[in-house]
Amino acid sequence: MNGVATPPSSANFGVDDAAAVAEIRAGLLQERAEVSPKYFYDPLGSKLFEAITQLPEYYPTRTERGIFERHGAEIARSVGTGAAMIELGAGNCDKARRLFPALRPAQYVAVDISTEFLLDALREMRGKFPDIEMQALGMDFSSGLNLPRGVRNEKRLFFYPGSSIGNFTPAAALELLRDLRRQCGVAGGVLIGVDLVKPASILEPAYDDALGVTAAFNLNLLNHLNRLIDANFNPGDWRHLALFNAPLSRIEMHLEARCDLTVSLPGGERRFARGERIHTESSYKYELLQFRALLVKAGFRNINTWTDERHWFAVCHASI
Ligand code: AVI
Repeated sequence: MNGVATPPSSANFGVDDAAAVAEIRAGLLQERAEVSPKYFYDPLGSKLFEAITQLPEYYPTRTERGIFERHGAEIARSVGTGAAMIELGAGNCDKARRLFPALRPAQYVAVDISTEFLLDALREMRGKFPDIEMQALGMDFSSGLNLPRGVRNEKRLFFYPGSSIGNFTPAAALELLRDLRRQCGVAGGVLIGVDLVKPASILEPAYDDALGVTAAFNLNLLNHLNRLIDANFNPGDWRHLALFNAPLSRIEMHLEARCDLTVSLPGGERRFARGERIHTESSYKYELLQFRALLVKAGFRNINTWTDERHWFAVCHASI
């Protein structure tokens, strides 16, 4: 089946509009305003993220790719062939595409909140790999993954690269992993990339690059919010910030008001004093042992891990 599944109300986004408005509004009205990072990914946000992955400062994508290239044969032995490969946050599907020759999955299911972007990516993939059954799922899986019946139950491999698991709090990451564990079916597992703890002098530039691409990615969120909830943010009034919070082991991205301002929201407004912030993303960095322990706590066994020479990033395969 080469189907496309999107929620009925979805236009550009795999999110339910009314629920999204309520969620965003509530986050913005908190004393410490925050917005979920899932709202970065409108079509322009997805393209900006793609550009981030090519920046010299943003090491995770190329480090993870290096691990797959260097240890591909061993990873393939651990995972096996013929899997139903379900990629979470598939984006441009580039990572899965690179693994297809080694893993030879029977089915590929690409899940992403940015439906339009995903459909374009998958169109290209289908032409290149006609033997792999492919399906696009435009959905927000951050609060649970609902797989349609067409997804095979045998040898499910949840592929979650890029350390996107780091965008959840450790408690929410555990819940997500438990959910994946429950949905592993017969002989399933996860293949997951995780960014490891390193000095702030490496982490902070990775999230605040010299070209300002990450700043544009962060500020584009405001344009997306304007469309989603009919707000009137002016991106020019805001500054991008990226800081490593060492005690919590996470990079935090914020938008900081450059002046006193008021933003109108559905059914009200929010005043921001100069210097006040909106917390837009946390990106947790793990010690490898800590992450392995999280996988075990979620119910996975037989964990194999691979890292790069600098131990900056890890790929883990865990089965049930
Ligand atoms: C998608 N996610 C893993 C990225 C990260 O590194 O946390 C998102 C990102 N935010 C800024 N740069 C990249």
